[in-house]
Amino acid sequence: KDTKVFYVSEKLEPKALDEAAKILSHGGTVAFPTETVYGLGANALDEKAVMQIFEAKGRPADNPLIVHIASREDCKSLVLEIPEKASLLMDSFWPGPLTIIMQRKKIVPDVTTGGLDTVAIRVPENKIAIELIKRSGKPLAAPSANLSGKPSPTSAEHVIADLSGRIDAVVDGGDVIIGLESTVVDVTSEVPAILRPGKISKEEIENCIGNVNIAYDDKVHPESETVRSPGMKYTHYSPKAGVILVEGENDAVVRKIKELVEDLSMRDAKTGLMLTEESGKHFSETESFSIGGKDKPEQAAKNLFYGLRFLDLKNVDIIIVDGSFDSTGIGAAVFNRVRKAADMIIKVK
Ligand code: TXA
Ligand code: MG
Repeated sequence: KDTKVFYVSEKLEPKALDEAAKILSHGGTVAFPTETVYGLGANALDEKAVMQIFEAKGRPADNPLIVHIASREDCKSLVLEIPEKASLLMDSFWPGPLTIIMQRKKIVPDVTTGGLDTVAIRVPENKIAIELIKRSGKPLAAPSANLSGKPSPTSAEHVIADLSGRIDAVVDGGDVIIGLESTVVDVTSEVPAILRPGKISKEEIENCIGNVNIAYDDKVHPESETVRSPGMKYTHYSPKAGVILVEGENDAVVRKIKELVEDLSMRDAKTGLMLTEESGKHFSETESFSIGGKDKPEQAAKNLFYGLRFLDLKNVDIIIVDGSFDSTGIGAAVFNRVRKAADMIIKVK
């Protein structure tokens, strides 16, 4: 495929948007920015269109997609009912990085939901995304626009690096704001459950709808296990390089990373570092990337996937990630992603 690139700025260039929307309404695949990460969109109600998403990404067929809509009104045609708690969540967090799982109507095809009777829905908080959905006139199924297993894309360049030639078009709207995928919450159970952590925290959700369970952990689950969200079974966020995560207080983490760097250089392994600003002062020679201030987890969120891809392009063998940043708020979601990406986790005191 010859992948077209449309540049769209805050001015929302109508011609570019219309052309991209036309590809979508004709059953094609178009990657577009959201506030979280770039998504690879197709008409969620068109089986053939959705199948192209799975093909382009190399995504396992049982891993369901999130359906993106322009406003909550559009939910009505997709779900059997909107539970009271879902409605409260929509009031508080839509448009925004919260995906809500509800009972689907049969109009949503099996390919989109991975055969489940539920469907995941969100209204993104990104003008380009909203405009594209409106102009296409369709709900858009859109997983993160990366090859399956790779770090999610936070810029159009990342999408092109993974999917050029495999999709019809990319809408380049610049870098995303958040850098990590949405929080996923399932409201179909008696006590709702968080299936994936994101910027919207458990505390924020509980303030809105009361008690919720946590149904995710930071491991990758074996194929044979039954999990609540199919995505939990698959390798995630992995760059080409091996990833070592060092967790603990900043001083201890710096000491451990120095040890590892020395050890790896003796073995002739090329090492790349992802360091907090505080740790960065202690290293000079090694290829490194700053994930931001250790007390600013929103910076780590924005930089994590970007940094993994950046260091991969430097052809390092091993990426060591400094895990001394704050684990509260969105920090919990950053730790979830980086633990899943890691081949080895070292905890130091
Ligand atoms: O921020 C985001 O959510 C981005 C942007 C593009 O919106 N999208 C995204 O999609 O991260 P994806 O496909 O990479 O992740 C969707 C996650 C997967 O873990 C999937 O298993 C889960 O949501 N999911 C989708 N539908 C589900 C359902 N009906 N029941 C349980 N889990 C579901
Ligand atoms: Mg993904």
